[in-house]
Amino acid sequence: MPLMEPYRVKVVEPIPILTRADREAAMARAGYNPFNLRADEITIDLLSDSGTGALSAAQQAAGAIGDETYAGSASWFRFRGVVDELTGYPHIFPVHQGRAAERILFNALLEPGQLCVSNTHFDTTRANVLLAGGTPVDLPCAAAADLDSDHPFKGDIDLDALRATLAGPESVGVVVMTITNNGGGGQPVSMANLTAVRDLCREHGVPFFLDAARFAENAWLVVQREPGWSDKTPAEVARAAFDLADGAVASLKKDAIAHIGGFLALRDPDLAAQCELVLIATEGFRTYGGLAGRDLEMLAQGLREVVDPRYLAARAAATRYLGDLVKAAGVSIVEPAGIHALYLNAGRLLTHLPAAQYPGHALATELYLAGGIRCAELGTLYLGEEDENGTLVKPAPFELVRLAIPRRVYTQSHLEYVAEVIAEIAKNPERVPGYRMVSSPPLLRHFNCRVEPVPA
Ligand code: F0G
Repeated sequence: MPLMEPYRVKVVEPIPILTRADREAAMARAGYNPFNLRADEITIDLLSDSGTGALSAAQQAAGAIGDETYAGSASWFRFRGVVDELTGYPHIFPVHQGRAAERILFNALLEPGQLCVSNTHFDTTRANVLLAGGTPVDLPCAAAADLDSDHPFKGDIDLDALRATLAGPESVGVVVMTITNNGGGGQPVSMANLTAVRDLCREHGVPFFLDAARFAENAWLVVQREPGWSDKTPAEVARAAFDLADGAVASLKKDAIAHIGGFLALRDPDLAAQCELVLIATEGFRTYGGLAGRDLEMLAQGLREVVDPRYLAARAAATRYLGDLVKAAGVSIVEPAGIHALYLNAGRLLTHLPAAQYPGHALATELYLAGGIRCAELGTLYLGEEDENGTLVKPAPFELVRLAIPRRVYTQSHLEYVAEVIAEIAKNPERVPGYRMVSSPPLLRHFNCRVEPVPA
């Protein structure tokens, strides 16, 4: 049977279609920062795949029976049953979203000055490590640095570097593997790599955690790409990954296809008792953790739906299809295409722009101006370092633009539209202007900065 989405559409929402003049006015008002745009100014929103998925009828029905009892609600027990079966962890705490789990875990686990080692920290994960007094260290594998290679598991951690760090003079408080590796191009992590990480952590007595926001998409890519796993279901692969770790933090706004939610899951009863106190003080009682009963129900149902191989196959094919169209238009992507997002290589397209004029941001802005497509860069605007005079001293290693694909939201013709807009830009890339900083806050500047086009 040819590949197709294993669902049909029952509820629709109109999308705004603006004129170029309207979009130019909106972007100027927004200080050329896509985070400042309003939803009614956006035609296709590829800013994030987090909390932006479409609910199923079964999820909506589950939400309707949500039990809003303060403690011990029936919805909590249903949620826990599903997460138990998926992960096997004895201690499960619901939280309102992934970063709450990160905050609670790192505050309990990290002593000031200790390292948190990862394949790549997602930005909130990094921020929570720093806020807990720790030092985040990223050790992506060597293959991750070659954007063009089709190495199947560029999300892996560099095992030699991890071994050296664990044996080194600095104390490592925890190792966190992000599956899939969002900061590293959405690339998957192999089971072989996770197993080796588990062995090294065991040898050195260091806790090993998963950042499991996209656990099902990682599992699907393992089924597709890793020898020895092709006859397993995504749920079996996910369970095998959870089995290797001492616990997990998860944003359920991604692979539970829901609008809000997350969990912190642990094996160690003492650590669990410590985390539970903070949970109750800052998120909510252990049976709701900042979520409504209806959220817990929708999450439980979403977790069942997301491991459906037909759903995962269709989603992976959609991202790959967009990648093929984009490449046919002459625009490079981070290879091979992952699932939750496509990463465009803006540095290679906009060769006329120096890093100080933010080529990634320039391409992301142009996608909006040309076609109402919102997305964000992962380049020098986000990761570059400047001195006190605002002169760029360290550009980002790559100038990328992330096109995050919300789950079950856009159709093939929407993706074809996105590819056409990119193809039009790629015909005359030298027309895309660079940008310069107007105002920038000291922290997390990509969310709040204002920039302006550099006159040609
Ligand atoms: N870990 C990873 C790998 C993530 O991608 C995210 C969020 C988080 C943790 C934090 O979870 O948002 O529920 O608090 N990523 C979103 C994104 C925001 O667009 O990639 P949260």
